[in-house]
Amino acid sequence: MMEKKYISPILEEIRKKDFQKDLKLAHDFALSYVKQVDEMRVYPDEEAIKNLRVFDEELSMEPESTNEVLKKLHQYGAPATVAQTGGRYFGFVNGGIMPSALCTKWITDVWDQNPALFVISPITSKIEEVCERWIKDLLGLPENTVAGFVSGSSTATLCGLVAGRNYILNNMGYDVVNKGLFNAPQIKVVVGEGAHSTVYKALSIIGLGKDRVTKIPYDNQGRIMVDKLPKLDDKTLLIIQAGNVNSGAFDDFNNICKKANEAGAWVHVDGAFGLWAAACPEMGDLTRGIDLADSWSVDGHKTLNAPYDNGIILCKHRDILVNAMHMTGSYIIYNENRDGMLYTTEMSRRARAVDLWATLKGLGKRGVGQLVWELHKKAKYFANLLIEDGLEILNDVVFNQVLVHYHSDNKTEELVKEIQKSGVCWLGGSKWLGKSVMRISVCSYKTSYNDIEKSAEEILRIAKNLKRD
Ligand SMILES: Cc1ncc(COP(=O)(O)O)c(C=O)c1O
Repeated sequence: MMEKKYISPILEEIRKKDFQKDLKLAHDFALSYVKQVDEMRVYPDEEAIKNLRVFDEELSMEPESTNEVLKKLHQYGAPATVAQTGGRYFGFVNGGIMPSALCTKWITDVWDQNPALFVISPITSKIEEVCERWIKDLLGLPENTVAGFVSGSSTATLCGLVAGRNYILNNMGYDVVNKGLFNAPQIKVVVGEGAHSTVYKALSIIGLGKDRVTKIPYDNQGRIMVDKLPKLDDKTLLIIQAGNVNSGAFDDFNNICKKANEAGAWVHVDGAFGLWAAACPEMGDLTRGIDLADSWSVDGHKTLNAPYDNGIILCKHRDILVNAMHMTGSYIIYNENRDGMLYTTEMSRRARAVDLWATLKGLGKRGVGQLVWELHKKAKYFANLLIEDGLEILNDVVFNQVLVHYHSDNKTEELVKEIQKSGVCWLGGSKWLGKSVMRISVCSYKTSYNDIEKSAEEILRIAKNLKRD
């Protein structure tokens, strides 16, 4: 008997509708956002946040029109966004979005490609291959390095540490990929005291534990004290960093990696935002010796100003990474061309390498270097404007991070809160060497000297008012 044809009335309605008009409306709303982002409050006001209640609704039984969906987002969503694509957002280490990448992302959204396998998307396979080559070249990494395009440094670090763990255990004659960790021999994990918390998270996920690590003390900038390195050997997984999340400091890769290489240890570099210093000729000293590591994690969505989400795992040992990420299935068709999922935890993903490719194309090799250099120079300029009236800069501004203390912990925390409320700029607070600090990250290509002057003026004004209290 023939199966009766079923046609969903709802889907039929959706298919019938010409959505060019909705695309045009989305385009208009997006353009209006881009136009006003430099003028809007950097952080939404209370009313905009209160209005988010309109989203507290039950999912309706019947579909809503795309037109209504877009209008709701534009009316209530846009005012509650954080204007981090403008010039006065200095929070976390969040980059802006390069125009070449934003425009490209619209196209890739329409394409909706899945870079898991070459057979699923030849174009994204090709772009990933090209990005791998360009990034290796930009960062001066070894020729045999491979790249996986993941959501961010959290995942990139996870991939790098899994590769390192497997490499060490393989060399000890233990097949961890198939046997798991149940009877695995012990390995040693060594991290700098200033390691980012995502490193600990990754260690915990991969069964190496957060507490079972040897921590190397750091100096007053957050750099590993090389003379405090424990004895390294070929059972050691060592994690170092390019860019401390607070101070922006870089470890001494040359000396640390040489020791690690002699001992046969695996070195992973967390370079979420700092690894890009390697692409800046003026900053060569900061990353000298970086090529001696085994794996690196870096983000496109931070210093490089690629859109979210854009992380990269780079690994010098292709077979180890691929063996860790490999999966099979009767329906999976590998190809002699690049199959992206061999290098990542995910199978299906966004075609994020295309955004990265467009960012790099839009800057060129020289532009990447100049972007990094300019962010650094602007951070220094910002720091200099703030050395006034009891404000104190606690770090050497070697990259894009500035740590400011104001009189006492309480005053500093109050200052951060008031600045956040002001809407003129946004920056976060943190702790540094036991003190509360205001943490400034100059991370967007959009930030102008005018933005910095306006922000510094507001910070000094608020600080003065607090002093009077
Ligand atoms: C040094 C460092 N490592 C890792 C991360 C985590 O990166 P992501 O948010 O892309 O996962 C960050 C985030 O700021 C970072 O600064």
